[in-house]
Amino acid sequence: SVFKRSETQPCVEGTILLLLLFRLGLGGDADRLFKIFPVITFCHFSGSGQSEDGKRDPESEDDVVNITFIDRSDRRIPVRGKVGDNVLYLAQDNGIELEGACEASLACSTCHVYVNEDCYDKLPTPDEREDDMLDMAPLLQMTSRLGCQIILTRELEGMELRLPKATRNFYVDGHVPKPH
Ligand code: FES
Repeated sequence: SVFKRSETQPCVEGTILLLLLFRLGLGGDADRLFKIFPVITFCHFSGSGQSEDGKRDPESEDDVVNITFIDRSDRRIPVRGKVGDNVLYLAQDNGIELEGACEASLACSTCHVYVNEDCYDKLPTPDEREDDMLDMAPLLQMTSRLGCQIILTRELEGMELRLPKATRNFYVDGHVPKPH
């Protein structure tokens, strides 16, 4: 059943209320039965399929997007993301060394990744600022993108993101910002 036990509870209470009202002398009176009918209807539809606190589970299977990172030592790291995730932060949350020196403000190319061809074609075309940054990235390839500009959608299920063997950090002092 899609309804949890606690969600069906009000229906049981509604039924008991109905029986009590009949005991109190309403039985057989069709007009009065229609007056209390909304109580039953309300109870019947009170189970909406939502979780107990009324929120939709953000990790519901519909939202899950499975992708794989391939790190600099060719290790494949499967990651369970969800629709709307930013690839840079998803990588960092999963311990993958994608730098993100400018924190997604399109002022570096340290989040450079290679996207597998199928998924590369599904991505929105990069805007001019992303292209400008990519032009300065070392080891540029046809399927290069900036990780911080890739937002997961369902169509990207199965995407593979390879980290280039080198990135360039534009920070002159060599400062490496820590992930959030
Ligand atoms: S983190 Fe700097 S452009 Fe992506």
